Order: sequence, then structure tokens, then C-alpha cells
Amino acid sequence: MIVQEHLPTKLFKDRTVFVTGGGSGINLGVARNFAALGANLAICGRTQDKPDAAAVELRALSAHAGGKVLAVAADVRDYAAVQAAFARTRSEVGPIDVLVCGAAGNFLCPAEGLSPNGFKTVVDIDLLGSFHASRAAFEQLKETRGCIIFISAGQAFVPMAYQVHVAAAKAGIDIMMKNLAIEWGRHGIRTHSIVPGPIEATEGMRRLSSPEMEKGKKAVIPLGRYGTVDDIGQAAVFLASPLASYITGVVLCVDGGSNLVGSALWNTMVEKMDLQRR
Ligand code: COA
Repeated sequence: MIVQEHLPTKLFKDRTVFVTGGGSGINLGVARNFAALGANLAICGRTQDKPDAAAVELRALSAHAGGKVLAVAADVRDYAAVQAAFARTRSEVGPIDVLVCGAAGNFLCPAEGLSPNGFKTVVDIDLLGSFHASRAAFEQLKETRGCIIFISAGQAFVPMAYQVHVAAAKAGIDIMMKNLAIEWGRHGIRTHSIVPGPIEATEGMRRLSSPEMEKGKKAVIPLGRYGTVDDIGQAAVFLASPLASYITGVVLCVDGGSNLVGSALWNTMVEKMDLQRR
């Protein structure tokens, strides 16, 4: 992590950041970057084990600023569970200043083979789950004049084979984000989407890639490399910081330029992938 070398290490001291799905992958990377800058963290996952494990390292990272860390089990599809998690956060850690909606589900499936429930499951986790979190956090964000960061995906605006469910969910997130920017701007609440490109060593990459795909993809990414979870964490920290106080309603691609080259390579290669493994 390099964020401490470039920003004050107490930039988010006494600020509370809630990250849905914060126990692993990109979302944990985002949580780490805030913790390194002194934030209090609250993270949730479907089960208690992953957030609990992640909380140990987050505590160590934010200890220099007296940061508190809370790990809770809450499935974002369950509105009551999200409300309960936010109520606990408020009383045990402090009102939420930054909400990161990162919980997501994904798998590869051709549209004609996707069951209605498979489609619904991803829309429920990604889109409805993000609405649940935003809606449930509104009063706290209004009080703190905070911000929401949605973790979106390039599928929202670049059609990709075998991703119809994810595309629908993420496109919904991006337009919801813009609606909320308009409605909640008067309360001082800013909203943003971050679009990660291919991020190395994540569950998403394991599910959506293959060694052949990796070779081809790296060659066409304008910046010539895969991203890291810290690339996304750094963007999140910027958007939540005072440096971005006049920015709202934006979709920020943090993808090395991946979205610019389209999905032709992906569409050809995904057909050759063994879908049983994913
Ligand atoms: N291909 C096609 N359909 C699939 C599938 C796959 N690989 N995986 C799940 N589905 C379908 C199931 O068949 C089911 O539909 P059905 O009732 O018509 O059979 C539906 O999706 C729900 O599956 P289920 O396993 O009960 O859902 P879940 O809530 O336990 O899990 C998922 C959610 C499916 C998104 C699962 O992949 C998951 O838990 N993902 C979390 C981690 C993740 O995806 N990370 C990457 C983020 S980029």
C-alpha cells in the first residue's frame, strides 16, 4: 500500500467507513486503504468468519489513529439485516461517513442457459443490495454529509458475452447512483461509481478469467497490466476525501483503459472456457 506516503495518515481519523462485502477481494483492499488513513471501519459479509478475519488486519492498520473496527454478518439482500448492521455501527463505532457498496455476485453463463433465478440472484445482490444499503444509510449520511461509493463494472456500458445478469445489475447501479446524486446532493451527500478493470488475485478474476484469457487481455490493456486492489482503494479514498468535495454523480473507471478497447477479445475467448469450474 502506498496511500500513506501520499496522503495524511490521519485523513479519515474519527470518520466511519462501512464496506459491504468488505471481508475479501477488492472491498477488503478498499477497507485497508481507509484504515491506513486512520478511519473507523465496519464491514459485513454473508457469514461472520470472513469479516472477522479481515477485521484483525484492519485493526492493526488503523490503530495509529485509534480506529475502531466492527465486523458483522449481514446479507445485503436482507434489508432488516442491513438496517441492524448500520444501527450497530452507529452505536459502537459512530455514524457512517462513507458507505462503500461492494457486495456482489458473479458467474459466467450464456443467456439461454441462465435460469430466471440465476439472473435474479445477481440483480438482488448487486443492485437491490446496493439500494438496501443506500436507503438504510441515508439518515446517517445526511447527518455526516457523507458519500456513497458503488463498486460497479465495465459490463454496465460495454456488453460482454455470458454477463447479461451482471450487466443489467451494474447498469442499474450506475443510473441509481446518478439519481441519488441529484436527490441527495441537497443533503451534502455525494455519490460515485468506481469501475474496476481486471484486478489481480481476486475472486472475480478466478471466476472470469483463464490463463489464455489473461495473456491476451494483458496485451490489449492500454496501461499494459492488471490492476491491484490498492488501485481501487486509492480511487475510493480520493473520492471520499475533501479533494473531491465538488465531485458527485460520476462513474470513475480505474481499469488501465480496459473499457476503451471493448469486449471483442473477451467474447471470442469466453466461449472456450470451461464453465463448470466457475
Ligand atoms: N451458472 C449458472 N447459474 C448459476 C451459477 C452458474 N455458475 N451459479 C449459480 N447459478 C444459479 C443457480 O442455479 C440458482 O438458480 P436456480 O434456482 O434456477 O437453479 C441461482 O443462480 C442461485 O444460486 P445459489 O447458489 O442458490 O445462490 P447463492 O445466493 O448461494 O450464491 C452466487 C450467489 C450465485 C452469485 C454465488 O456465485 C456467490 O455466492 N458469489 C459470491 C462471490 C462472487 O461471486 N464473487 C465475485 C464477484 S465479481
